[in-house]
Amino acid sequence: MNNSTPDISNLILEAAKKAREELSTLPEPDMTTPVEWPVSCTVGPGLEGAIACETKVGYVNGSKGWLVYRGYDIFDLCANSTYEEVSYLLLHGEMPTAIQLKEYNDKLVEYRFLPHTLRHVMSFPLEEMNPMSALRLGINLMRQRQTDRDMGDHVRISKHKTIGTDEDSIPMEKEPRGHRKAIYEFSDKSLEIAAAKKKKAEKYERRVHNLDACYHLISGTATLAAAIARVREHKLPIEPRTDLGHAANLLYMMTGEVPTPEKERLMDVALILHADHGMNASTFATMVVASTLSDIYFSVGAGVAALNGPLHGGANEEVLKTLREIGDAEKVDKWYKKARKEKRKIMGFGHRVYKAYDPRARVLGPLAKQVVAQSGDPEAKRLLKVAQRLEEVVIEDLGGKKGIFPNVDFYSGLVYSAMGIDSAMFTPLFAVSRVAGWTARTIEYLKNNRIFRPRGIYVGGFDKPYVPIAER
Ligand code: CMC
Repeated sequence: MNNSTPDISNLILEAAKKAREELSTLPEPDMTTPVEWPVSCTVGPGLEGAIACETKVGYVNGSKGWLVYRGYDIFDLCANSTYEEVSYLLLHGEMPTAIQLKEYNDKLVEYRFLPHTLRHVMSFPLEEMNPMSALRLGINLMRQRQTDRDMGDHVRISKHKTIGTDEDSIPMEKEPRGHRKAIYEFSDKSLEIAAAKKKKAEKYERRVHNLDACYHLISGTATLAAAIARVREHKLPIEPRTDLGHAANLLYMMTGEVPTPEKERLMDVALILHADHGMNASTFATMVVASTLSDIYFSVGAGVAALNGPLHGGANEEVLKTLREIGDAEKVDKWYKKARKEKRKIMGFGHRVYKAYDPRARVLGPLAKQVVAQSGDPEAKRLLKVAQRLEEVVIEDLGGKKGIFPNVDFYSGLVYSAMGIDSAMFTPLFAVSRVAGWTARTIEYLKNNRIFRPRGIYVGGFDKPYVPIAER
């Protein structure tokens, strides 16, 4: 057990016990044997029930409220492990040995430094951008350091040479030659630079699809998110520290302060909880892009875009808005009645797969309670009370009837905000964690890749005569 913060470990173990007691009589898992293709299954709208692939990365059982990474129960991982171990486990399939963990950690330390990417990303108005959009941009810019795909044509040494990207390196056209396009001739020096650049880029190219790229993304996404958080507060990004772990570095790079062991552990647990979750929309989006043999950076960028929506990772920020909108525990019942009448979705509740209490919310609920109590912040206490009453009301109304319970997003925002994190950063933090699941599942899928191509059933008309625009 992780003994550095016994209070937090005890809360996790209690949550695990409660989950096992409440759900122990339900059936054993199904659909965990190899698939014989082609497979028959009942598919609902939104591909509900569709089987896209086999996987050994993780398992979600919605009726038992189980979440399993590579065979390990989520509660055990939260109680005992770290994000470094868990992300290694997801990618490699096995827990690392001490040597493997050290080697992996050395890579994460190296890839946590993104000076070039940060320099590029900071030339955009990050403070005015949606932080998920900024994160996606940063991930695309991380790609530039790893591949020459974008540079290929420019770097190629051909009859008429390349144009430099910085103005000083652009030589003048010697004389007008009547070409329809400008042609620049480079000096020998610039040829040498171009050749060296190409060689370097080729070295990077092989990294784009392999595990190194996954490590780069897992480590670098945290650096990017932290930099975005700081720029939004009109502060400069901070370099990571080589003596801190992933969770501690993330908080350090966001705040400039080495976190307390409690805060570090809370962040670590939150990262573990969000790391993977079946074929959710952002994981699927990542895999769809990868299945075209586009590379892992583009794929993860698609994951970030999909995660941003309020029905998915964006719900955590929306939850806090809802709690603030309600404002007081006494107003919950009235607010809820009105929301139901207006057929509003209650953010942080419900799940496509879970029809039981989400195990991640079982951990985050008690953690929120503890961290809010410790913060002594009256606003946080008020919002927690609103959340607790809202949970009671929703479960009473929709729990038994529709299997709607709090999901991972319901309490995560309360935990983060009690730690002093701005709500705009909640969804980027989700991405910082989920990049492990995105990359693990993508790498696994690519071993037996088939381009994704479901059908859309055409229900439009036929044989329509073309009518010229003037006659329409
Ligand atoms: N509040 C009120 N009613 C709900 C909710 C909710 N949060 N979620 C589902 N329902 C009702 C819905 O109105 C529908 O009722 P009816 O059968 O009468 O039409 C029924 O439950 C089924 O809902 P659905 O939208 O068809 O379910 P889904 O599987 O397509 O959607 C969901 C799952 C997560 C998108 C949905 O529950 C939802 O919109 N929740 C709120 C947003 C949210 O918290 N998202 C975070 C999900 S967990 C973390 C993550 O994956 O990112």
